[in-house]
Amino acid sequence: MGIRGQLLAVALLILSAAADPNDEMCLTQLSESLEDPFKNLQNWTRTTFANPCQGFTSFLQGATCNNGRIYKLSLSNLSLKGSISPFLSNCTNLQALDLSSNQITGSIPPDLQYLVNLAVLNLSANHLSGPIPQQLALCAYLNVIDLHDNQLSGPIPQQLGLLVRLSVFDVSNNRLAGAIPASLGNRTGNLPRFNASSYAGNKGLYGYPLAPMKSKGLSVLAIVGIGLGSGFVSLVLSFTAVCIWLRFSEQKSADDEGKISQFMPDY
Ligand SMILES: *[C@@H]1O[C@H](CO)[C@@H](O)[C@H](O)[C@H]1NC(C)=O
Ligand SMILES: *[C@@H]1O[C@H](CO)[C@@H](O)[C@H](O)[C@H]1NC(C)=O
Ligand SMILES: *[C@@H]1O[C@H](CO)[C@@H](O)[C@H](O)[C@H]1NC(C)=O
Ligand SMILES: *[C@@H]1O[C@H](CO)[C@@H](O)[C@H](O)[C@H]1NC(C)=O
Ligand SMILES: *[C@@H]1O[C@H](CO)[C@@H](O)[C@H](O)[C@H]1NC(C)=O
Ligand SMILES: *[C@@H]1O[C@H](CO)[C@@H](O)[C@H](O)[C@H]1NC(C)=O
Repeated sequence: MGIRGQLLAVALLILSAAADPNDEMCLTQLSESLEDPFKNLQNWTRTTFANPCQGFTSFLQGATCNNGRIYKLSLSNLSLKGSISPFLSNCTNLQALDLSSNQITGSIPPDLQYLVNLAVLNLSANHLSGPIPQQLALCAYLNVIDLHDNQLSGPIPQQLGLLVRLSVFDVSNNRLAGAIPASLGNRTGNLPRFNASSYAGNKGLYGYPLAPMKSKGLSVLAIVGIGLGSGFVSLVLSFTAVCIWLRFSEQKSADDEGKISQFMPDY
């Protein structure tokens, strides 16, 4: 085998190495979990999944390649439905995931924690429900989490405050509830701070930078009201009783001692 043969062998090796089995699994599963009713995803076919990248060139619409691996997926505003496959986590070189402005349903898979290079997560303007997985805190490079305009519920995980690089955090217009973790509300040490617009449009969220906890409905209010009210009433009643008793006993003692009672102060 001459030098040409060796070069060819090396070239073949590089080409075959480019077809990463993890990326193939990731893309195959993702295209199965998503629905693409308008056939907007060009080249999203099994043959392309087996070889989506050649070096820095991508053959998949919305995908960006880096050294033969998928490193960005930008599938915004393509009328996609369906759900996010947990096998998306097999795209282990992924740095940016943008599925925003579609009609994707289901929950955010906790498996996204295995995307250890993920820096940008934009799932905004979909129909995602369920909790924000606390495991996202394990994606240590995250600097953008944009989940606004979904139907996410439950609390904002405290753990997200550990993401020291986080510079954009938007969970507005969801159904989140509970206290905003202090680490996300306030700047403490290195941790960034996000203003009220990041949290707006969630009826159940409270705490700085939003308003403090609202009363939890009528029942608590009523109990407190009844407690305070009855306390006040018994206070008034006993005060009145003491006054009447004092007046009566003074009257009595004045009568007893034959003194005139009109110099006594009125109660
Ligand atoms: C689809 O793949 C072909 C080659 O396989 C490529 O020439 C074309 O640019 C790809 N289309 C997109 C949108 O990436
Ligand atoms: C979304 O896609 C529709 C149809 O392709 C287009 O008309 C609209 O301008 C897009 N919106 C954004 C924000 O890109
Ligand atoms: C692919 O992702 C799934 C779901 O997270 C996981 O169970 C599986 O171990 C991953 N496969 C590889 C090869 O990492
Ligand atoms: C996320 O995507 C939406 C819609 O495509 C866009 O308006 C928004 O700016 C993105 N968020 C970030 C932080 O870039
Ligand atoms: C956050 O800071 C504000 C003003 O800077 C302060 O009033 C509030 O008590 C702080 N909250 C927490 C949880 O540290
Ligand atoms: C919140 O912060 C963003 C950027 O950090 C800024 O554009 C926006 O005006 C701020 N909103 C308020 C109400 O301060």
